[in-house]
Amino acid sequence: MTRKPVIAIDGYSSTGKSSISKEIAKRLDLIHLDTGALYRGITYFALSKCRSKTMSIDLELLYSAFDTIQLDFKEIDNELELYLNNKSIAMEIRSPEVSDQVSFIAKQAPVREFLLETQRQIASKGGVIMDGRDIGTTVLPDANYKFFLTASIEERTKRRYMELLSFGQKTDSDSVRQNLQQRDKMDSERDVSPLRQAPDAILIDNSSLTKEETIGLILKHIEDN
Ligand code: DC
Repeated sequence: MTRKPVIAIDGYSSTGKSSISKEIAKRLDLIHLDTGALYRGITYFALSKCRSKTMSIDLELLYSAFDTIQLDFKEIDNELELYLNNKSIAMEIRSPEVSDQVSFIAKQAPVREFLLETQRQIASKGGVIMDGRDIGTTVLPDANYKFFLTASIEERTKRRYMELLSFGQKTDSDSVRQNLQQRDKMDSERDVSPLRQAPDAILIDNSSLTKEETIGLILKHIEDN
């Protein structure tokens, strides 16, 4: 049997990376890992357990607690659901507080180092589609297929706003746009493993494409190559 492919999907926040990857995983029978969930999991842990006296995140306390962080995944319908110390944190990691802090946590070198091995281990047997910011450039530079998704800020704000409403979170478009712009900036400008299109990644601007059309483009490229 031929080894199943390893696919890297990177790009800006709210370009549909995760929902598109999830659907491709189902159709090609691959495992999907949303790597943003890992960074969100660490951020949730830091917000819960590693506060300084002024209630800001104490990074040194976080690094010293790495030994106590057990991140596991349970496979449900080709999807890996994240567990922190045996508790599902699927909903908690989508909170506005986590979204506000996650790029700050994700730019710290010890955090990226801590999560690198976990991600590579999951991909080591093949048959995986991983979405994130640095999968094609750093985590899986030898992936069989690489895609980089982008879309206009207006379109991404709309999508994120609708997604948050569907989670029952009250918000407004301006805060959503600001959060996206801040994260784009921090993710692209950080020193370690910034958000970048890998030179061999296929660029897809899906501002005026539906989710299904984006999936179609990706599957067509995989079929043809
Ligand atoms: O995909 P997301 O919005 O859930 O990701 C949350 C944050 O995690 C994002 O702002 C940047 C960071 N991230 C990262 O730095 N590297 C990855 N591979 C995935 C996410």
